[in-house]
Amino acid sequence: MRVGIFGQGYVASILAIGLQRIKNGEIGYEGIPFADKLPYRIEDIEIVTAFDIDANKVGKKLSTVAKQYWQNGIKFDRDYIIKEGYRDQRGKGLEVDIEETVGKLIDEYEKKNIDVFVNLITTESAQPFMNAKEFHNAIKRNDIDRISPSQLYFYSVTQYEKPASFINCIPTPLANDPAAVELAEENKVTLFGDDGASGATPLTADILEHLRERGRKVLGIAQFNIGGNTDFLSLTEEERNKAKELTKSSIVEDILGYDAPHYIKPTGYLEPLGDKKFVAMHIPYISFNGAEDELIINARINDSPALAGLIIDLIRLGYMAIERQQFGTIYPINAFYMKMPGPREAKSIPKIVAYHRVKEWIELKVEKEIIG
Ligand SMILES: NC(=O)c1ccc[n+]([C@@H]2O[C@H](COP(=O)([O-])OP(=O)(O)OC[C@H]3O[C@@H](n4cnc5c(N)ncnc54)[C@H](O)[C@@H]3O)[C@@H](O)[C@H]2O)c1
Repeated sequence: MRVGIFGQGYVASILAIGLQRIKNGEIGYEGIPFADKLPYRIEDIEIVTAFDIDANKVGKKLSTVAKQYWQNGIKFDRDYIIKEGYRDQRGKGLEVDIEETVGKLIDEYEKKNIDVFVNLITTESAQPFMNAKEFHNAIKRNDIDRISPSQLYFYSVTQYEKPASFINCIPTPLANDPAAVELAEENKVTLFGDDGASGATPLTADILEHLRERGRKVLGIAQFNIGGNTDFLSLTEEERNKAKELTKSSIVEDILGYDAPHYIKPTGYLEPLGDKKFVAMHIPYISFNGAEDELIINARINDSPALAGLIIDLIRLGYMAIERQQFGTIYPINAFYMKMPGPREAKSIPKIVAYHRVKEWIELKVEKEIIG
């Protein structure tokens, strides 16, 4: 399983480090949901290339970049050099030839013979295209003001001849964009997305399910997230935070069946917290005889390893989907691993429920996918 990465940041680096340490026999499979329950071995995953736009990373070796995130020293079996990616050109009035940019990306995909792509670039604002023709037209018109970097990366993967998987771990709507799903189906691409469900959101989803099943009426949800990594820093930009807010809030009505007032979003950047974010949750609810209870949860959660562990599964599931020739998007997988599971009409379901949907998919028990 040969993997290409977009965005060699914290998550991508922890993914590479953890994978290498597993191969070295230094650590176990903790934090990987379907660790040894898939037909493909974790040890057979090979990350072979990555694209970034940070001048401090492009042209450097993985081992040099990884030092920013891991000070204990590590030697990689495959110490690839970070390639120059596609920088957001929207609103900059620059001359860029999209087809030429895509062609250069594909040259690298072919050279490295990639099977699975993982999108881990900085959260961006982006609008779905909604129909495939619009997407094609934007490319044909060379409309660089319309296309976000993630959309361009995804498009490039659809133009790559080899059937492949694209795992969208960021909030940009791709699995939630019918246009992207259609392009994926047409071009033998499996698309998982959107926005990796690590950290506090899956926990909130499961708690809401617990309350719903017991007939308790949720009065409101306050969930704060404060972290000190660059992901949190970038979310201090309002446009980017909006994308996150959208992905995180869809769970409330989907699970409860009504929209309890809620505030669920990353709220701040505090450097000393580093990657270990601080999460606080407050959920008041009505119980029998009008009694008012409340849940108060405080947690410190290492952000990047939480997502990297899920990606170890997603890479192997992506590879399995290619082998099964299942293209477009796959709801049972998205429902468990993603905050905003595609396709667009699909609902968020609690992760404790979605886990069993993944199992059924693995065991080929999903005849026809039922959505929501
Ligand atoms: N647990 C988690 O950490 C978590 C959970 C869900 C989603 N995500 C998403 O994953 C993404 C990565 O998170 P991170 O903590 O690694 O962030 P990060 O800031 O450490 O890394 C992002 C990397 O992407 C690069 N980048 C930015 N624009 C690019 C472009 N156009 N092309 C190629 N590279 C580009 C940046 O230079 C940086 O190296 C974020 O979008 C985040 O929202 C993270």
